[in-house]
Amino acid sequence: MKNSFNVTIVGGGSTWTPGLLMSMCKMKDRFPIKKLVMYDIVEQRQAVIGEFAKVLLKEEYPGLEFSYTTNKEEAYKDVDFVFMQIRTGGYKMREQDEKVPLSLGVIGQETCGAGGFAYGLRSIRDMIEIVNDVRKHSKDAWILNYTNPAAIVAEALRRVFPEDKKILNICDQPVNLLRSYGRVLGMDSSKFEPVYFGLNHFGWFTNLYDDEGKDLLPKLKEVINERGFIPVDAEQRDKSWLDTYAMVQDMVKDFPDYLPNTYLQYYYYPDYKVAHLNPNYTRANEVMDGREKRVFDECRRVAEAGSAKDCHMVHNDAHGEFIVEVAESIAFNKGRIYIVIVENNGIISNIQDDAMVEVAAVLTSNGPRPLAVGTIGTFYKGLMESQLAYEKLAVDAYFEGSYEKALQALTLNRTIVSAKKAREVLDALIEANKGYWPEFK
Ligand code: NAD
Ligand code: G6P
Ligand code: MN
Repeated sequence: MKNSFNVTIVGGGSTWTPGLLMSMCKMKDRFPIKKLVMYDIVEQRQAVIGEFAKVLLKEEYPGLEFSYTTNKEEAYKDVDFVFMQIRTGGYKMREQDEKVPLSLGVIGQETCGAGGFAYGLRSIRDMIEIVNDVRKHSKDAWILNYTNPAAIVAEALRRVFPEDKKILNICDQPVNLLRSYGRVLGMDSSKFEPVYFGLNHFGWFTNLYDDEGKDLLPKLKEVINERGFIPVDAEQRDKSWLDTYAMVQDMVKDFPDYLPNTYLQYYYYPDYKVAHLNPNYTRANEVMDGREKRVFDECRRVAEAGSAKDCHMVHNDAHGEFIVEVAESIAFNKGRIYIVIVENNGIISNIQDDAMVEVAAVLTSNGPRPLAVGTIGTFYKGLMESQLAYEKLAVDAYFEGSYEKALQALTLNRTIVSAKKAREVLDALIEANKGYWPEFK
């Protein structure tokens, strides 16, 4: 077994990279890195974060070999773990994903509904190319992917690389929620053992065991019902995220069986959400004016100062630490339990085998060994199956270049429903995504 690893971050210019680097530093004894490379297709964007990284890593990660590049061979040669976080089309296209649907009266969101559909159809081509590039140089590297919309990306990669068992799609939201439950209960969330099922950004916690095996979920629901819900890092969050967490209380009141992923609110209350989202200033604007600006300004400042000792980087620990923990559990065969995206194959017994589901799994050096969920109730099965059909049809639409499949997908999405509305939204998104989407027949 190796004891230190070569890691490449694809999307080195991501707003999440500085936080991820800080997590790597914090966890260097748990997951030692020998060589770290950042790769991006936009040289100038990545350089700002790359120069910050040089300063930070020199102080916090002695001995680490670091570089950033736009050269594929340098990025992918002799790598053990590839961490992916790209955004095809950048924030400008995210803004379109949110504003075009909202201008037509339906949800416009990064990963849900028509916005997620638009983003998915942009991501697939780049993701396939990157996996092929990685495999050309490092056939055994683990590819840990954060790139959204994770559900659609995972389904597309499953189809193109069916034999590749070293691609793992992950999402940080279950961990954000676990840490937030910890805050609500005044407990250390790293000891929680969750039971969770669903699709990405479309799932539920059914149990939450403490280290003595006691289920904390009933108590947690009671507390959220009475006092509401906030993220673990509420003090650092923009208002829109606080509103999003607050709606968990509404969801628990309406459907008290389980604790829902925050993203379910777009599907449970589409009309309410549309009425409360600003179609002229969306989350993409909030991020461009907020996180993106703050992250890049702080990177420039640190690079100029030549020290990161007084760095005030606003970042999300759950995001950075989760992917490093996943890598650690695989690298050292830790067998710890994490919520990840895997092919169903009977885990949820009344959902089709070839669904990419999000569930808890034991993570070993051979990858995830998911824990059985069993049969799910009619309401959850109904919701999941329509969303799954939407995801499958979206990916069909991409590979077949089929307008009809795209229309079917959007019609099935609970945030749209009307086929006439779906057609209107689809036509507008085809226009907005010229050059990114396949040509539809
Ligand atoms: P961002 O635009 O700041 O960063 C993305 C970077 O990827 C940019 O620097 C861009 O130049 C680069 N890029 C684009 N296409 C590329 C390609 N083909 N090859 C290499 N690099 C490429 O976006 P962000 O907000 O920091 O998010 C990055 C990604 O991470 C997004 O897909 C986002 O949705 C995802 N994300 C996922 C989770 C999760 O839970 N799964 C959590 C956070 C972020
Ligand atoms: C959570 C989700 C990610 C998503 C991110 C959006 O972490 O799990 O999938 O990309 O939130 O955050 P943003 O701040 O860019 O809206
Ligand atoms: Mn996510």
